[in-house]
Parts: sequence; structure tokens; C-alpha cells
Amino acid sequence: MGNDVSRRDWLKGGTALAGALLMGSRANAQNMAVPGFVPTPDNPIRLGTNENPYGISRVARNAIVDMFDTAHHYGRGRTMELMEILADIEGCETKNIRFSGGSGEILKTLALITAVEGGTILTAEPTYHELTRYAERRGVPVIRVPVDETMTIDLDAMKAAYTDDVSIIYLVNPNNPLPTIMEKNKLKEFCLEMSKKCLVFIDEAYHEYAQNPDYETMVPLAVANDNILVARTASKIHGFAGVRLGIAYSTEAWIAKLRDFMTGGTNKLAIAGAASSYKDTATQDFLRRKNQESLKIVYDLFDKHNVNYVKSSANFIFYETGMDIKDVREKYRANGIVVGRPFAPFLTWCRVSMGKPEDMEYFATVFEKEFT
Ligand SMILES: Cc1ncc(COP(=O)(O)O)c(C=O)c1O
Repeated sequence: MGNDVSRRDWLKGGTALAGALLMGSRANAQNMAVPGFVPTPDNPIRLGTNENPYGISRVARNAIVDMFDTAHHYGRGRTMELMEILADIEGCETKNIRFSGGSGEILKTLALITAVEGGTILTAEPTYHELTRYAERRGVPVIRVPVDETMTIDLDAMKAAYTDDVSIIYLVNPNNPLPTIMEKNKLKEFCLEMSKKCLVFIDEAYHEYAQNPDYETMVPLAVANDNILVARTASKIHGFAGVRLGIAYSTEAWIAKLRDFMTGGTNKLAIAGAASSYKDTATQDFLRRKNQESLKIVYDLFDKHNVNYVKSSANFIFYETGMDIKDVREKYRANGIVVGRPFAPFLTWCRVSMGKPEDMEYFATVFEKEFT
């Protein structure tokens, strides 16, 4: 690489050459907005893992590159700065915050605590499986309560299913693969009542996408009451899925317990990127707008063909295919699209993550060709 194109500029994508190289690379070519991109089974559009199709914001990318200079040093980097930014956004104190290597680490740590200390996990079905699978592999019993007929987590049924050996109630809000939310007042009441008996753990991985007025974060409750913990992730709207940063909000007692049990953690680069990304509200607004545009393309498509689907408070849709999801996935894959995995017991339903609007136009073409 010539002197006029420094490595740092190249990494930042700050030159025409860098731009051309990045555009041409396979890693960036997974959406229809890239000129000349043709989706194939080997190089598909990624609509299967609820990622941010635009990638990490420019300011966050620059902050990560700047931190490379001291990446070989141990140390906390911008940890305290990020804690203060988040404490400010959430209206809590830095002592209420703990970072992890993705929120999956928080989920697994809580499962591990139950495996070590004993207890049962109570959760909804279907929901995100990382915590329960990890727990079950260690012999922890899991009670699963089906969602109600509106595809929403049924808090009354959860209460009815509670038994004295439950140590954690795990609720995902907005849920996944069902992109529905629990009504804020009902959820608050539930948290306050059930946290007298066990830990109520709310996983808010899709918090930044939730625009339904009935949605509210439980972070204020988690930092002011015993036995409520909220997890967030930078993997979704911030695009850090491959960089890894999760955030736990709770009382000092639960933050200390997490610290005690956690075995991994995050890293300086993720922290530095996040310190810039969480302040970059313009990019987050842009991404929310684009997500709504993409959702509308798919809603219009499904309405046109009378498809049964669940309206989204996140960056994905769940719809009824009338076919085995394995066959549905194969058909999409043959057309260069990856959609979500099977989610029991909804094995004829499909979860589709929102790509860029251009990707969803292509998705609509494939849907009409293969399924109508
Ligand atoms: C509901 C939910 N929680 C947690 C995670 C884990 O995210 P990460 O470990 O990337 O923070 C995901 C990932 O898709 C998710 O959907």
C-alpha cells in the first residue's frame, strides 16, 4: 500500500481506493444497494440473523480504528466514558452498568448462576433460545409458557406457571422470533410483583427499534428495585454483532454477581466504538427510518397476497408460510436469500430480518415468484 494511502485511512475507508476495495469485497456485497451485486446461494442477502444491513456507523468505525494504536495494551480504554454516556441516556448511575462480550454472555452467565446455585428457569415460547439452551445443557429445568393468541407473551399465564423453585423469569421484549411487545404497565406490575420471588430478567436486544407507544424499557425499574435485570446489546442498531458488546443494567448486588460469574467480557475496540456510536443519534434515526421503509415493503407485499403475519416492533417480521420452514428456507436460499431458522412450535412460519429497502424489493420479487 503506497505512502499516500495510509493503512489507517484505508481501514477507515476514507479514500476512493478504499471505497472501491470495500465495495468490491465479498463482505460488503451482501445487499442489493451495491452496484453489480447478484445474490446467489453462495453469496446471499442476509435476512436470517436480525443484523443491521448498513454496518457500523462512520464515527464508530473511526473510533475503533483510532483505538488500534493502543490495542496491544491491557486497560480499560474508554470504559468509564461509555458508562457515563449510557448512564446519562438511561438516567441511572455507572454502578448499575456492566459490560460483556455481546449480551449472549449475560444470558449464559445468568443460566450458569442457576446451574451452580440451583433453580428452574421460566420463560415464554417461542422466544430467543440462547439462555435456555445453555441452561438445559447443564441440567437446569426450563418451564415454557406459550404466547397468547395475539402472539404476545402472556404475563398472566407466566404468573400461573410460576413454581417455588423458579430462580429466573426470562422475558424478551420486543420478543424474538415474534416481534411483539408486552404492554408497559402490565409488564411493570409483573416485574415488581414477581421480583419479590425471583430474578426477573428482561432482554431488550431490540429496544432501539421499538416504536410502539405501549413499549417501555424496564431499565429504570431494574436499577431502583431488587431482583430485576435488563440486558441490551450493541449488535442490532449499532451493528456490533461481530465486535461484541452487551450491557447489563441492574442493582449493584446483581452487577457484582454478574462480575463474579462472568468469564469473558468485551474489549477496548468495542468500547471505543460504542462510546461514539451511542452518541451518534442521527445514524440511529436514519436506521429506524430505513427499517420502517423496509417493513412497509414487506407489509404491503403480505397484505396484497393475504399472508398472515405479525406486525413488528423490531427489525424482523414473522409470517405464516403454509409450508415446512425447511423447504421455505431452501427456496429462498436457491434465490440468494437466507431467512431465519426453524422456531418450534411454529414450524410453518418464517422469520425475515429487514435488510435495506432495496433488499426487501428483491425479497418481494422472490416471494411472488416462488410462493404465489
Ligand atoms: C433477543 C436476543 N437476545 C440476545 C441476543 C444476543 O445478541 P448478542 O450476543 O449479539 O448481543 C440476540 C441475538 O440475536 C437476540 O435476538
